[in-house]
Amino acid sequence: MHGGEVVACGTPDEIIANPKSVTGDYLAGRRAIEVPSKRRNGNKKKVTVSKASGNNLQNVTVDFPLGQFVCVTGVSGGGKSTLTIETLFKTASMNLNGARQTPAPCETVKGLEHLR
Ligand SMILES: Nc1ncnc2c1ncn2[C@@H]1O[C@H](COP(=O)(O)OP(=O)(O)OP(=O)(O)O)[C@@H](O)[C@H]1O
Ligand SMILES: [Mg+2]
Repeated sequence: MHGGEVVACGTPDEIIANPKSVTGDYLAGRRAIEVPSKRRNGNKKKVTVSKASGNNLQNVTVDFPLGQFVCVTGVSGGGKSTLTIETLFKTASMNLNGARQTPAPCETVKGLEHLR
């Protein structure tokens, strides 16, 4: 949306050799993000989305552990936004905030009572 430019392109070795690429620094180990020494353990509660089928999701069932940082990762177009924003967030905002939404389809979302 705000523009930008491709700074590096190629194999991992080519990216590592390209001084313009910050990603190359991380691939080479020249930069690193330390693993925190202290981590939250979560609160053992969870929200479960069952049989999500929006866009290309094939009846995906996922537990989201609560009280901790959670990352949803995968290839572009894999369905991360469909699962998290279109399905979970929209269903939660309807249930918790009375928002008017049209969520992507799923069978159930359980555990929303643990959220405010
Ligand atoms: N509004 C839409 N109408 C039709 N297809 C859609 C729509 N939004 C997403 N899709 C398709 O659904 C699939 C999953 O897309 P989604 O955006 O959920 O993936 P993503 O994992 O979030 O990708 P990215 O890493 O690029 O953000 C893709 O094939 C995409 O083209
Ligand atoms: Mg996305």
